[in-house]
Amino acid sequence: MTRTLMQEPLVAPKISEPSSTSATPTPEALFSATLVSPAVADSLPESYTIRPLRKSDYARGFLDCLRVLTTVGDITEAEWNGRYDWMSTQGQGGYYMMVVDDGSRIVATGSLLVERKFIHHLGMVGHIEDIAVAKDQQGKKLGLKMIQALDFVAEHVGCYKTILDCSEINEGFYLKCGFKRAGLEMAHYY
Ligand code: ACO
Repeated sequence: MTRTLMQEPLVAPKISEPSSTSATPTPEALFSATLVSPAVADSLPESYTIRPLRKSDYARGFLDCLRVLTTVGDITEAEWNGRYDWMSTQGQGGYYMMVVDDGSRIVATGSLLVERKFIHHLGMVGHIEDIAVAKDQQGKKLGLKMIQALDFVAEHVGCYKTILDCSEINEGFYLKCGFKRAGLEMAHYY
């Protein structure tokens, strides 16, 4: 059974909206590099960098890295550009997609979706999605560092909690990342 893992019990929410300086994307990146955790960046092996997604990552193996997780399909560059442009305009402030680059290609990816609510005094909830580490790079703590980096973003843009869904097989990984079981995932497929 797939369960939702929630990092923290419900606490008084922070209500700060992302400031325009801290979260504004640049022409080169989906969001500001000021939201990249310095501690995570410093902990990576030589030549590895962690950074916001760029449009040019289409040519750096982003989709191949994601294929470790599930089917992706044959996405053309025009389709990629269209989705990226939507995320950085209409979706701005909602989509934080991060990559680890080993110097030649993308070797890890992860997404944080920020949901803005009315409840809990305009609370914001982070949803961690689509974590993928290239097969030949697994076991090097890149997944853990990706989660820590997404947590850093969530906290800094004002989320009061972050939640995710995963299969039983990955529960141990998320427990190591500090998450715990909380609730039950349900789904309608269309
Ligand atoms: N079960 C139990 N423990 C695990 C698992 C697992 N499946 N995977 C890793 N761990 C442990 C490691 O042993 C390590 O423990 P340690 O600190 O005691 O040594 C710790 O978790 C951190 O492991 P990492 O090296 O950071 O893990 P990795 O970089 O290999 O990333 C991941 C883990 C993301 C699950 C990777 O194996 C992967 O990409 N799998 C395929 C795609 C996938 O299933 N993604 C998750 C989907 S769920 C979602 O996206 C919300």
